[in-house]
Amino acid sequence: MPLFAPLNPPLPAWPDARVWVIGASYGIGAATARALLAAGARVALSARSEDKLHALAAAHPDRALVAPLDFTQGPAVAAAWQRIHGEWGGCDLTLVVAGTHREFRAWDLTEADADALLETNLNGPLATVAAVLPGLIAQGRGAIGIVSSVAGYRGLPKALVYGASKAALINFTETLYLDLHARGIGVYLINPGFVDTPLTARNEFRMPHLITAEDAASEILAGLRAGEFEIHFPRAFTRKLKLLRLLPYRLYFAAVRKATGE
Ligand SMILES: NC(=O)c1ccc[n+]([C@@H]2O[C@H](COP(=O)([O-])OP(=O)(O)OC[C@H]3O[C@@H](n4cnc5c(N)ncnc54)[C@H](OP(=O)(O)O)[C@@H]3O)[C@@H](O)[C@H]2O)c1
Repeated sequence: MPLFAPLNPPLPAWPDARVWVIGASYGIGAATARALLAAGARVALSARSEDKLHALAAAHPDRALVAPLDFTQGPAVAAAWQRIHGEWGGCDLTLVVAGTHREFRAWDLTEADADALLETNLNGPLATVAAVLPGLIAQGRGAIGIVSSVAGYRGLPKALVYGASKAALINFTETLYLDLHARGIGVYLINPGFVDTPLTARNEFRMPHLITAEDAASEILAGLRAGEFEIHFPRAFTRKLKLLRLLPYRLYFAAVRKATGE
């Protein structure tokens, strides 16, 4: 394989692609689904808010398929996969975008609150991948993309449990790649910086390099098209975080305290 060849097999051109977006009712997932529909793809839309999925599908009734579900429920995800296959005869890309956020400081931590966040941010993606993988492996092609976060790179203030869930997802997705690449299945890790969505609307701190959900969707589509393994953006922010990632703890902690004032 050439040194700089794309890490993932090519996806079909968007007008020929069948894409399932899980977490499509609002935020980054909805913007990504809209961008894919605008590019001509067939898009299956999943999340719990059925009304929002139908509103999104209404603009493209011929190419949008509404499949409401709670992605922490494996059997519901498996049933939706069967339905999508039944309607389309296959699926080229499953994007697991759904997630949630809650700010924790060490002194606020309770087991119940931590479990609730991990249920959505870690068990949800794991349940989804477990439900989808048998079909993907049987298909022998296709791809899966998982949205984690730059908050998973290293420890950050206010991200006590969120960061841990995203660090686990990054590791999980790297390992998924190692297992599935040889089987011809694409695996994408998507690490956004700050994106203006209902999830970040709750943040009271200044969010550096904040971008719109539409810009995030453009970055995701471009990264998928390029076959990148890690799709991270905006680069001006993620490059700095990648450098910070290399620092020994003494320097890393000092740099984070200086940057965040925490
Ligand atoms: N915004 C950012 O700055 C940022 C940065 C880095 C990473 N991320 C990650 O990007 C992803 C999307 O974030 P966002 O900002 O777009 O969040 P958001 O605006 O809160 O949207 C979250 C989406 O996930 C869906 N969802 C949540 N729980 C679900 C469940 N149990 N089953 C099915 N769907 C569920 C929601 O739909 P329903 O409520 O209708 O189910 C909604 O469509 C998350 O994984 C987040 O951690 C976001």
